[in-house]
Amino acid sequence: MGPKALAQVLRRVNFPADPEKLLIGLDKADDAAVYSLTDEIALIQTLDFFTPVVDDPYLFGQIAAANALSDVYAMGGQPILAMNIVGFPSCLEEEILSRILQGGADKVKEAGANLCGGHTVVDEEPKYGLSVTGTVHPDNLLSNSGIKEGDLILLTKPLGTGVMISALKAGFTSSDQSNPAVKSMLTLNNKALNYFDQYQINACTDVTGFGLIGHLLEMSENSSLEIEIDAQEIPIFEGVRDFAESGLLPAGAYKNRDNYEEFVSESGKRDQTLYDLMYDPQTSGGLLISVAEADAADLLIDLYAEGMDVAVIAKANRGEKGVKIEWE
Ligand code: CO
Ligand code: CO
Repeated sequence: MGPKALAQVLRRVNFPADPEKLLIGLDKADDAAVYSLTDEIALIQTLDFFTPVVDDPYLFGQIAAANALSDVYAMGGQPILAMNIVGFPSCLEEEILSRILQGGADKVKEAGANLCGGHTVVDEEPKYGLSVTGTVHPDNLLSNSGIKEGDLILLTKPLGTGVMISALKAGFTSSDQSNPAVKSMLTLNNKALNYFDQYQINACTDVTGFGLIGHLLEMSENSSLEIEIDAQEIPIFEGVRDFAESGLLPAGAYKNRDNYEEFVSESGKRDQTLYDLMYDPQTSGGLLISVAEADAADLLIDLYAEGMDVAVIAKANRGEKGVKIEWE
């Protein structure tokens, strides 16, 4: 379902009981809901699940969990509790389910959170994910809005998982950890957070289903700032460009393009493949971190030192809400 249609449906059912305490609700299409418990603690609540993206049930479990946990990190928080959400066909072996759950449990443990139950239903297709509860000090709470003029925007993982998943499903490439996109999808987005209190971070979100452009547009929403992408800096997983050129772009990429293209302007000669990849829906994608220009280089160096494949991909300029792609 597209973001516009979804927003319309949600508008009809959204009625928070105590809106003063709801620091972040449905209104800003953010990664998670945030509720103020005390002056020092806010609760973060999120939920994500999907059908298998790789054949290996243990890797799938890890990827689904890393993806769900990411929305807590995107708010600047730490996950504390997680619960499984499972759909599983009665015709499949139980061993497969136990491998999926083990993958999820191992990822939750790595995140330092507690897996404490869940719910399973019989379903035609396996589905797995987590509902995650986290906490954050309200002063450290980040949302997808809040970018400031002059901010530089870092992306902490390359793009192309949507195309890569299409290639995996078609059997064109290996779906184990030797595939850099698979390895990336099961990597937690927690490391960058260790550095946030040292720098002026103004906004954060993660790149998932709406693709790079869709999530950058969310960041420029409610601001009078235009996000200018430096196309030459966009990192792409190895092999993805060739797969995209041979037509393995997932349907979601076209849907995203239809939904967002009207807010995109360009300067210079378009690289059509890279342009398409900017709409590629991501699974367990990287964080987009909007940091004050003066701090960007230091943050970048810190994240490099952590071994992260991170790049400064955009800048927030005064202008109209939207995204501009600078091709040269
Ligand atoms: Co998110
Ligand atoms: Co999400």
